[in-house]
Amino acid sequence: MSDLVSASPERTRAIGAAVASFLREGDVVLLVGSLGAGKTTFVKGLVEALGGGQGVTSPTFTLAHRYKTVPPVTHVDLWRLERLQEVIDLALDEELEEGGAVIVEWGEAAEALYGSAALVVRLSFGVEEGERLISLEARGETWQPRAAQLTDMVTEQLAARVTPETARRR
Ligand SMILES: Nc1ncnc2c1ncn2[C@@H]1O[C@H](COP(=O)(O)OP(=O)(O)OP(=O)(O)O)[C@@H](O)[C@H]1O
Ligand SMILES: [Mg+2]
Repeated sequence: MSDLVSASPERTRAIGAAVASFLREGDVVLLVGSLGAGKTTFVKGLVEALGGGQGVTSPTFTLAHRYKTVPPVTHVDLWRLERLQEVIDLALDEELEEGGAVIVEWGEAAEALYGSAALVVRLSFGVEEGERLISLEARGETWQPRAAQLTDMVTEQLAARVTPETARRR
């Protein structure tokens, strides 16, 4: 749906913040990208934008963090999970039913459970140092109606933060 270039961690946070403004109760966001691609950086921007503070860290060992935002965001990292049952055991369905939103690092591991109705965010390394390619894919009845507006919002957010350096490269 949209392919974006993020030239810095700040910009990846800004994209997370733009997505935050669309987040509703019961939403799932799946983050797909290799080690160090910027998944946690994206979540930082998203949670900060919702007033969740600056204390976002990777829940690699704790599996899940819950932030007191509106909607409440549960941030999970499925890196160490090997079986779908382990993902089911996290009881994310309960969070969603109770009005929370769930954002998942290594989201491909939750594809079978949530892939049909989710915002899928893919992050990969760009050619330049500090550059990341970020694509957003709105899936299902929950996300698709928001796709066009979300693309506009994210594009605006990026344009507003263009530095002279990146503007020259365009
Ligand atoms: N454009 C960019 N967007 C995001 N992060 C960037 C960018 N450029 C450089 N970085 C750096 O890359 C690293 C991304 O780390 P982050 O923890 O967000 O990745 P991750 O995908 O969550 O990794 P992991 O797989 O270990 O969970 C940070 O050190 C960040 O500063
Ligand atoms: Mg991470």
